[in-house]
Amino acid sequence: MTELLELNELTKVYKRGGRNFYAVNGANLSAGPGDFISIIGRSGSGKSTLLNISAGLLRPTAGTVLFEGHDIHCLSDKEASFLRNEKIGYVPQGQSLLSNFTVFDNVSIPWFLFKREGDVEGSVFILLEKVGMLSPHAA
Ligand SMILES: Nc1ncnc2c1ncn2[C@@H]1O[C@H](COP(=O)(O)OP(=O)(O)OP(=O)(O)O)[C@@H](O)[C@H]1O
Ligand SMILES: [Mg+2]
Repeated sequence: MTELLELNELTKVYKRGGRNFYAVNGANLSAGPGDFISIIGRSGSGKSTLLNISAGLLRPTAGTVLFEGHDIHCLSDKEASFLRNEKIGYVPQGQSLLSNFTVFDNVSIPWFLFKREGDVEGSVFILLEKVGMLSPHAA
């Protein structure tokens, strides 16, 4: 059966001081629908690097990321952006919200990047409600 997400021997090597530094070294993971997975490790152990590669934001030095059976690093930039827009929710470690925009505008952005069917406003309110952020002051 095709897994939702499959990481195979993922490796990311950086050059530091002329030497190879393995930020991620041969990581494997298999995740199906509904799985809830925590990646735990001390600071600098490669958690963000692993997540960035898994979401197609960073290229691995070696290994593959299969999302629904497709290698996401073989997609074009536009195809990868579309996949993230439609199927991947990613909250980065650093600040990522656009501070001049309202909460409502920030959550609406995926609808404006790729045109979607349906009611934007209703969908945004449903998402905000799901995470307990639907208050008169939030939007
Ligand atoms: N662009 C880069 N060039 C060189 N080394 C890097 C680069 N990006 C990350 N690293 C190194 O790779 C290692 C893993 O970093 P990463 O940010 O993935 O760790 P982390 O587990 O997310 O840490 P934290 O818990 O502090 O968020 C660290 O030692 C970091 O310094
Ligand atoms: Mg991190």
